[in-house]
Amino acid sequence: MILLALRDDFPILKREVNGYPLIYLDNAATTQKPQVVLDAMNEYYTSSNSNVHRAVHTLAGEATEGYEACRTQLKEWFNAERAVITSGTTEAINLVAHAWGRANLSEGDAIVLTEMEHHSDIVPWQMLAEERGIELRYVPVMEDFTLDMEVYAASLTNAKLVCVVHTSNVLGVRNPLEEITKLAHEHGALVLIDAAQGVPHERIDFKDSKADFMAFSAHKMCGPTGIGALLIQPEVFQTMQPFMGGGDMIETVTVNGSTFQTNEHKFEAGTPRIAEAVGWCAAFDWMSSLDLREEHQRLVGIARWVAEQLRAMDISVYGRHEAGDSAVVSFLHPTIQSEDLAHLLDARGIAVRTGHHCAQPLLHRLGISGTVRASFYLYNTMEEAELFIEQMKYISGRFG
Ligand SMILES: Cc1ncc(COP(=O)(O)O)c(C=O)c1O
Repeated sequence: MILLALRDDFPILKREVNGYPLIYLDNAATTQKPQVVLDAMNEYYTSSNSNVHRAVHTLAGEATEGYEACRTQLKEWFNAERAVITSGTTEAINLVAHAWGRANLSEGDAIVLTEMEHHSDIVPWQMLAEERGIELRYVPVMEDFTLDMEVYAASLTNAKLVCVVHTSNVLGVRNPLEEITKLAHEHGALVLIDAAQGVPHERIDFKDSKADFMAFSAHKMCGPTGIGALLIQPEVFQTMQPFMGGGDMIETVTVNGSTFQTNEHKFEAGTPRIAEAVGWCAAFDWMSSLDLREEHQRLVGIARWVAEQLRAMDISVYGRHEAGDSAVVSFLHPTIQSEDLAHLLDARGIAVRTGHHCAQPLLHRLGISGTVRASFYLYNTMEEAELFIEQMKYISGRFG
């Protein structure tokens, strides 16, 4: 029914849910995986499974090569000199809190956050603030769903770090990162970008971005779950100490003490995510055959149309769909409870998300406790969007 050649690469899209063809609109939570990613992981476990770095046999060599190829790929894709492989965005941000924050922040210092942050870019800082007596300052979100840049500029005095989400997972708004980073640096603060929702849609040049840290997850960009990365500018990387001790991150260990590796391995204690790294590499290869900019414009266009249709049905839409924003549509039906609506859509094969989307401070600012969220990705089509709206009209007419 739906013509888009790349859909054939995703086996899961062929399945039915409750007797209907699956329409997967929960991409901001996680994306589907192309067959090449599944094959690469299967092939790794079938033919090369071993542990990395510590043995000379052939399989260990292949495993090490597969794992390190992911790091090389990350550095190339994002133009970065240092790429630490983590379990995802959450671990990457916690890594900064422990390995940089503990060494560089003390009582009286301030961290600037925004009300738009995902919990994974709030809670680690709250934990550190409690431990160290650090002040947390939140930049408000305004009625047009953008950050209050005047408050931001005024909140930079004594700030040592600015943590900002690249693109909101609730609103789809892409923040003015260039301006945010420039202002932060003028005040001597470092910048951490939570790019979990940015990297799926935008090919970011980390060096050019001038941000000091950038965190993201593979599973939001067609890669496996359980793996992500933290990019760090080299000058900052030198100043950071390991936060997790164990195998692989050391140079020598004696009963009196240890010395640590000086490269990214110092942050990668223990057996890493080898199959996931191999799978992520395959995802990058797959994505490199696309024109991401063009695909992104197509998807934002779909999201904008969906938002207009919902508004025309008296449904409140929270967010913005301009050129740089993401294809996320958050909304609230005036009479049907979000969970009921999601169940009714699921009964017709349509997967959407409901709830607070791990962004309770943002929802508090918006005066709501949750939304329904439809999020579009590379394999979604206009026909799917039309079917979604058709079902929304039917459900509204019948149950609203
Ligand atoms: C903006 C944002 N930040 C952070 C995260 C956390 O990512 P992960 O759970 O992969 O660590 C998410 C996931 O939904 C997100 O959307």
